[in-house]
Amino acid sequence: MRPTGNFPVTRMRRMRRDDFSRRLMRESRLSADDLIYPVFVLEGSNVTQSVPSMPGVTRVSLDNLLRVAEEAVSLGVPALALFPVIDAAGKTQGAEEAWNPDGLVPRVVQALKARFPELGVITDVALDPYTSHGQDGLIDPDDPRGYVLNDETLEALAKQALCHAQAGADVVAPSDMMDGRVARIRAELDGDNRIHTRILAYSAKYASSFYGPFRDAVGSAGNLGKGNKYTYQMDPANSDEAIREVALDIAEGADMFMVKPGMPYLDIVRRVKSELQVPTYVYQVSGEYAMLKAAIANGWLAEEACVMEALLAFKRAGADGILTYFALDAARWLKAEL
Ligand code: PBG
Repeated sequence: MRPTGNFPVTRMRRMRRDDFSRRLMRESRLSADDLIYPVFVLEGSNVTQSVPSMPGVTRVSLDNLLRVAEEAVSLGVPALALFPVIDAAGKTQGAEEAWNPDGLVPRVVQALKARFPELGVITDVALDPYTSHGQDGLIDPDDPRGYVLNDETLEALAKQALCHAQAGADVVAPSDMMDGRVARIRAELDGDNRIHTRILAYSAKYASSFYGPFRDAVGSAGNLGKGNKYTYQMDPANSDEAIREVALDIAEGADMFMVKPGMPYLDIVRRVKSELQVPTYVYQVSGEYAMLKAAIANGWLAEEACVMEALLAFKRAGADGILTYFALDAARWLKAEL
């Protein structure tokens, strides 16, 4: 039977009256343990570039990234998610740079793991930083619409994931939305005896317009041009399809499951957690960050209160972890509360 009650015997405000009783009945809590910090890395030394559509977010060279990593460690943030910014010369039709063992990502992973062995390093597995056309996969040269080829792309993703794992990545995170990629990557990793490399599958990744500032940050917006990702990322209208995607990735051997974007998709986070009971992650994407930052810059929203409310909402919806550009800020605020 559902608990019920009647006024005036039941008064919901009784428990809200004082701080101690509000604290006692609080259901969800955010801690630094829940946070993953996405970072943009580029070639060079002592480079820090700002990203105009993401105020406060920078692209940094490895030396400067090590300082960021040190701060993440000291704040108790468990992991970084790496996103490379590849210059035009490194982008090709076939994305060959994506599995170059001497490429930017493997070098950065090696350096991070050597310096901060306890910090989790997550790498993105998708071809978009490396393709001249900005798509996440290989395109069919004979198709005027440039259809992204599924099975051919799987081979490229497997090579990319293995290259990251061999460099020392703890978690590989396929964000490409090809069918069968988790199984193909798991087989490639296991074939090289990398049974401990975890797979964070971007299982329910929607074809969202909230990724715009990220594409500015990694410089893929221009390459993608008027192109879109509708033939592989999910339709924002769908919900059952997300459950099916996660279920497939469970069967294929993924360890962690992501819903992306975040705040407009809290219903999906809740369904994944309630219906499938798997480690569930959510990505508060670049557009969500930009919206908050713009309103904060205008003095229309209070930064700490609104950011912490948004992050807590992910926890309430069922997320076990949150990728957020606010990770270090949030960890600092949490520390200040203690
Ligand atoms: C690409 C990728 C994207 C994001 C993460 N990985 C963009 C896209 O799919 O076009 C977006 C993240 C963000 O907006 O913060 N594989």
